[in-house]
Amino acid sequence: MKRSILLLSAALLLASSSMSYGQGKEPYTGLAATPPMGWNSWNCFAGDINETKVKEIVDLIVSNGMKDAGYEYLNIDDCWQVSRDENGKIVVDEKKFPSGIKALADYVHSKGLKFGIYTCAGKKTCAGWPGSRGHEYQDAITYAQWGVDFLKEDWCSSEGQDALYSYSLMRDALQATGRPILLSICEWGSNEPWKWGNGVGHMWRTTGDIMPFFVGTVYWGGQGIAEIIEKNADLYPYAGPGHWNDPDMLQVGNGNLTYDENKTHFSMWCMMAAPLLAGNDLRKVSKENLEILLNKEAIAIDQDPLGFQGRRYYDYGDREIWVKRLTDGVAVCFYNRGESSWKVTHNFKGESFGPAAINPGNTYTVRDVWAHKDLGLNDRSYTFDVPSHGVVMLRLTKK
Ligand code: GAL
Repeated sequence: MKRSILLLSAALLLASSSMSYGQGKEPYTGLAATPPMGWNSWNCFAGDINETKVKEIVDLIVSNGMKDAGYEYLNIDDCWQVSRDENGKIVVDEKKFPSGIKALADYVHSKGLKFGIYTCAGKKTCAGWPGSRGHEYQDAITYAQWGVDFLKEDWCSSEGQDALYSYSLMRDALQATGRPILLSICEWGSNEPWKWGNGVGHMWRTTGDIMPFFVGTVYWGGQGIAEIIEKNADLYPYAGPGHWNDPDMLQVGNGNLTYDENKTHFSMWCMMAAPLLAGNDLRKVSKENLEILLNKEAIAIDQDPLGFQGRRYYDYGDREIWVKRLTDGVAVCFYNRGESSWKVTHNFKGESFGPAAINPGNTYTVRDVWAHKDLGLNDRSYTFDVPSHGVVMLRLTKK
């Protein structure tokens, strides 16, 4: 009798510790104090990845200045896995990764970077490969053994699954390995993850897949840059250090985006304190696009430790003024998604920039983040020409 009670309590204890549903338990803290930065293979290579390509990208991140600018994670996306073996262990595609994933992670670590991988909360990934459903703990152990630092978990083939339960399960599985692994929730905003994601993952997608176009819906879930900004804009109350809205990986340098559109895309991701995961083929990046990715002044706005997601302050239809409170001032972005250029005069004198709430009694220097030029002080009006689909981005720093 005594023995069976003991066994029962042990079983209950186990069940309650492994079934911590939902919030309450923290994911590894300190992993995403500022929005995560890195590179991911999907937006340029999709399923066409292999270890040679990925290593070339790793080498470039080190040599082209991106590592120094803060890009830290090297993430492979879907299509690295092919099946499960007789014990249920995930099997790597040997044709693409003949040396195995651990060797690749070791290579990434040897360059002073971190390594990320992709799975799906459903039975199959979006490209049809085995997902983690029913194998969460087993997969988490495998990732930890390989030295994974970042896990993106998708949401295909998840019919009938509860999102909060599914992602909490993976959080617990990752935590049980003892290896700090950042959890990136990728359920496209379907179950309003901003409402429950804090405490489950470190970032959550807020929209369907980003397309390399400024405007226009391209396929079922895909959206242009302007539309994604609209969807992510009002979610600012939910973001902060350790838990970020994720308007998806960068398309800078991809598709049809013009120079101004690439700059706008990057600037607005920085204004929204979004994760900055580049998604272009760095072997072919143009000088202009690399300069955009390397703009340390824009990156510093994204990475400001306050973790304030910028928001719309003025809305003149297609023309908007956005503000982001910073530790020592404010970032101000004149954003023109309209089809003609915008000549705008704004008086900075006495201006508190609304939700950014700076003290207008203080003196601030006004600096143009793209021209890399100090313009003057906050004691007068400034006039800007903002090109169609373009931005003028400023930083006001307390003197
Ligand atoms: C989508 C996801 C993309 C990419 C793709 C891989 O669901 O949003 O970012 O990971 O799956 O199949």
